[in-house]
Amino acid sequence: MASSSRLSALLITLLLSALASAHLVLVYPGSRGNNLITSGRTQDDQIPTGSLGENFNNATGEYEYPYGMQWMYPCGGLGVARNRTKWPVKGGAISFQPGWFNGHQTAFVYINLGFGTEPLNYSNPMVPVFQMTGPTNQMYPGTFCLPQVPLPVNASVKVGDNATIQVIETAVHGAALYSCVDITFADPADVAPVNSSNCFNSTGNDGQGGPMGVNYVFTTKALSGALSGPAASWTLLGAALGATALTLLL
Ligand SMILES: *[C@@H]1O[C@H](CO)[C@@H](O)[C@H](O)[C@H]1NC(C)=O
Ligand SMILES: *[C@@H]1O[C@H](CO)[C@@H](O)[C@H](O)[C@H]1NC(C)=O
Ligand SMILES: *[C@@H]1O[C@H](CO)[C@@H](O)[C@H](O)[C@H]1NC(C)=O
Ligand SMILES: *[C@@H]1O[C@H](CO)[C@@H](O)[C@H](O)[C@H]1NC(C)=O
Ligand SMILES: *[C@@H]1O[C@H](CO)[C@@H](O)[C@H](O)[C@H]1NC(C)=O
Ligand SMILES: *[C@@H]1O[C@H](CO)[C@@H](O)[C@H](O)[C@H]1NC(C)=O
Ligand SMILES: *[C@@H]1O[C@H](CO)[C@@H](O)[C@H](O)[C@H]1NC(C)=O
Repeated sequence: MASSSRLSALLITLLLSALASAHLVLVYPGSRGNNLITSGRTQDDQIPTGSLGENFNNATGEYEYPYGMQWMYPCGGLGVARNRTKWPVKGGAISFQPGWFNGHQTAFVYINLGFGTEPLNYSNPMVPVFQMTGPTNQMYPGTFCLPQVPLPVNASVKVGDNATIQVIETAVHGAALYSCVDITFADPADVAPVNSSNCFNSTGNDGQGGPMGVNYVFTTKALSGALSGPAASWTLLGAALGATALTLLL
């Protein structure tokens, strides 16, 4: 499966569609589908009264998303896909482009897992929330990749099990943007290889957007207490972020 060709297809769709209100594009291990679509606005780009969110247009027989599909929980307006992609049973890479709209110079990113073929919830964090940083508040094409995202705490899965990875980007203007990829857990040898063309952080000098970066996010009841040792979530995130090699750490 060539993730790069899926990506180009998405980006071509994006460039061709004047109505696209694009936000985040999942690069690796692929995506549930194109959820960059905005529809249901008037010809002069207004949102008709009473049609916020998702609406069923009984004239066309289709759902419309005047703010864009990606705002819809849990997977940006798309139902579970038939085309699953394989992902390593011990965790693996997740790569995405978070800057396909204005206002994404910083955003909080959540990466969760839903178990099963059609998960009812995604209450299983794979990494603690972090803040990503991009080069500008205008649209940018930068790519961000975590090479070794672990399974959720206490997950017990085997080769052949289905699940869905959910990536949420909460941007400063109040958007919570949902994207998913439906996976089947597989032996790492059977999974599309992770390499420098599908998993990298744009540097700002490579002509591919960026620089992309990360800020830690933490909560505390008492700052002086928190200073005496790293919070648990820092340790976990450190483990996910610190794994530069593609070998298994957890
Ligand atoms: C699944 O199919 C959709 C629609 O053709 C496509 O956009 C998406 O990239 C595919 N996903 C995977 C993981 O193959
Ligand atoms: C369906 O569309 C027709 C006109 O095309 C309209 O009269 C009707 O109220 C609509 N029904 C709903 C439930 O929106
Ligand atoms: C995984 O999902 C596919 C459909 O995408 C289904 O055919 C298969 O039975 C599912 N596997 C399990 C173990 O539920
Ligand atoms: C989430 O879904 C799982 C099944 O995948 C279920 O066991 C669990 O109770 C659900 N949790 C919540 C909070 O609904
Ligand atoms: C993981 O399992 C251990 C041992 O059963 C339990 O104490 C812990 O609360 C679990 N953690 C989560 C996040 O479910
Ligand atoms: C990365 O792997 C993909 C196939 O999954 C391949 O098309 C691409 O050429 C590879 N890139 C590099 C730099 O090896
Ligand atoms: C991208 O940056 C994050 C945060 O610094 C880092 O954890 C990750 O390993 C980097 N990705 C790659 C492919 O080097």
